[in-house]
Amino acid sequence: MRLMEKIYEMAKANKQRIVLPEGEEERTIVAAQKIYEQGLATVILIGNKERIAAKARELDADLTGIEIIDPETSENLQKYTTAFYELRKNKGMTKEKAEIIVKDPLYFGTMMVKLDDAEGMVSGAIHTTGDLLRPGLQIIKTAPGVSVVSSFFIMMVPGSTYGEEGMLLFSDCAVNPNPTAEQLASIAIATADTAKLLCKIDPKVAMLSFSTMGSAESELVTKVRTGTELAKQMRPDLAIDGELQLDAAIVKKVADLKAPDSNVAGKANVLIFPDLQSGNIGYKLVQRFAKAEAIGPICQGFAKPINDLSRGCSEEDIVNVVALTSVQAIIKKEN
Ligand code: ACO
Repeated sequence: MRLMEKIYEMAKANKQRIVLPEGEEERTIVAAQKIYEQGLATVILIGNKERIAAKARELDADLTGIEIIDPETSENLQKYTTAFYELRKNKGMTKEKAEIIVKDPLYFGTMMVKLDDAEGMVSGAIHTTGDLLRPGLQIIKTAPGVSVVSSFFIMMVPGSTYGEEGMLLFSDCAVNPNPTAEQLASIAIATADTAKLLCKIDPKVAMLSFSTMGSAESELVTKVRTGTELAKQMRPDLAIDGELQLDAAIVKKVADLKAPDSNVAGKANVLIFPDLQSGNIGYKLVQRFAKAEAIGPICQGFAKPINDLSRGCSEEDIVNVVALTSVQAIIKKEN
């Protein structure tokens, strides 16, 4: 069974409440109907009820079974405002500002997740990555033991034998512009856990660089080497190795030559990029040149799952990310 089919099965078997703050947006409305019809999740749309109903009529979409919450009239507005103010008062938040900010659908949705009125949130069809991440970082924060929120892509490379028969996880390609060695270690560990728990594969994590095991020296390489050491110390149970060039990480012949003693080289299925420039460019190269399917970016490391969409997303993309978010919520409860 393909990975997304398995994700759909898991989501359907244990339906989660997922809030979509861009409730007045057309693709979101159509996706909400599809999610309901497929029984993937209990969807909550945020927005003005009349405007959403009018849009649904225009789109010929049936919103039966979908809850719509307008922050302006919500009975929970005061509860969320007070909780948000308490969370952020040490960062200069005032009660007056909190009253305005929480009415913003992204903040309102994030507070719903924080206070367990939803298990996860998906947004980004009309907002930027930063617009979504900021309330998440301020309110949901990182899971215990995780120092940094990051993201991963599941790359499906057709006809390839690299990684797990063409499936590899790439990280971080969307969140941290220039992670420190400590943050790289945290990203590597989070992605290994994602590979294990979400993708059900045995992770072999390569810490990528332009150097393999000391073949070059630079402060850029030192960062990756230190990150590798820290990750190994923190989680000796995981197969993590570096620093490795991309070919040494995934091609057995090159690995035999350049890193013969590595337990990861030549068979890596999780690739950790040293910074956001290389990660973002790297996944797009594979997506375009190898015609790979790139599922993501999916966030990891949040205490509760919230996820971003591309502004060019389709209705199907929204459905897929809602299913993935549901499964992340299920995994969090189980572990
Ligand atoms: N993990 C955990 N906490 C974080 C992280 C992180 N990665 N980054 C910031 N924070 C925390 C800060 O500590 C701070 O907490 P506090 O307010 O409680 O003290 C809070 O989040 C806000 O931090 P800022 O530094 O003010 O946040 P910033 O405005 O820099 O935004 C963001 C953070 C949005 C993640 C930023 O780094 C960013 O824009 N990253 C790149 C996103 C992007 O454009 N990606 C590429 C496009 S996606 C694609 O192509 C697929």
